[in-house]
Amino acid sequence: MKHLLKLQDLTKEQILEILNLADQLKFEKKNNIPHPYLAGKTLGMIFQKSSTRTRVSFEVGMYQLGGSALFLSNRDLQIGRGEPVEDTARVLSRYLDGIMIRTFEQAEVEALAQYGSIPIINGLTDYCHPCQVLADLMTIREYKGGFDGLKMTFIGDGNNMANSLIVGGITMGMEVCIACPENHKPDAALMEWAKENGKFTCTSDIKAAAKDADVLYTDVWASMGQEGEADLRKKEFAGFCIDAELMSLAKPDAMVLHCLPAHRGEEITAEVFEAHADELFEEAENRLHAQKAVLVKLMADK
Ligand code: CP
Ligand code: NVA
Repeated sequence: MKHLLKLQDLTKEQILEILNLADQLKFEKKNNIPHPYLAGKTLGMIFQKSSTRTRVSFEVGMYQLGGSALFLSNRDLQIGRGEPVEDTARVLSRYLDGIMIRTFEQAEVEALAQYGSIPIINGLTDYCHPCQVLADLMTIREYKGGFDGLKMTFIGDGNNMANSLIVGGITMGMEVCIACPENHKPDAALMEWAKENGKFTCTSDIKAAAKDADVLYTDVWASMGQEGEADLRKKEFAGFCIDAELMSLAKPDAMVLHCLPAHRGEEITAEVFEAHADELFEEAENRLHAQKAVLVKLMADK
C-alpha cells in the first residue's frame, strides 16, 4: 500500500489490517500508552474545501504519533494561483513525508501521487471519501462485531459518501442498498462493480431500502461545491430523510451513521440524530484512530 487515493485500491485484507491497527491505536490512546510510530515525520495537509473533522483528526493524529502536521490552505499555496499540481507534488515531496489532500477533482489527487514520491492520502474529493468510510467500517465492527450478513442502507445523494460506502460495504461482505432520487445516483461504474461483486441495489423507494437494515447512513443533500444548487436540491431530495417512521422499518437494533456535518430537518430528523448520538460521535472519534492507522501503514519506516 503506497497511497490511499480511493478505497477500491485496497483489498479486504488490507482494510482489515487498517481496522485492526486502528483498534490497537485506540486502545493505546485510551490507556495512555505512548505510540510515537511517526517520530520526526511531517504530514502536509492541503485543503481546497472546509473541514472540521478531517483537519483536526489528521493534525492531532500526527502529533499523537510523535510527528507533526502542516495545514496548507489553498488560499496561501501557489497551487491556488495556478502552479501546476505536478510541480507542487515534486516540490512538497522533498520537504514532507506524506500529503493529505481535500479537493474537488479526483484527478488532482491521482496526479499528486503520480508526480510526487511520497504517500498521498485522499481527504475527500467530489468522487469519494475513503478515510471517512474506514472510520465507518471501524464503528460498524465495534457495534456489530463484524460485517457478515449485515445490510447497510444509504439514504440520500449518490455522492462521494455513497460511492465510498458502496466500495467499503461490498468489499467487507455487507449487503449495500442506496436509496436516492433517479437523477442523483452513485457512480455508474461503481454500481456495476458492486452488482458483480456482492449484494447491491439502488432504488428510489426509501421504505424498501430501509427494510431490515442493520445500518442506516445519510449525508447532506448539497455537498461542498454545490451550495448554488441548495434550493433546487431541497425540492429534489424532499422525503429522503431518516426519521422515526423509517427507523421503524429497519432492524430494532439498527445503528445510524452520518459523516457529518448534519442538517437536522433535512436528511435526518433531530429526534433520530439525538437518539443515535452515541454511535454518531463514536464514528466521528474513529476518524482519528482509523486515520492514524493509515498514516502508520503509509509513513512508518519499514
Ligand atoms: N466528515 C468529514 O469529513 O467532516 P469534515 O468536513 O469536518 O472534515
Ligand atoms: N458529501 C459531503 C461530505 C462532507 C464530509 C461533501 O462533500 O460536502
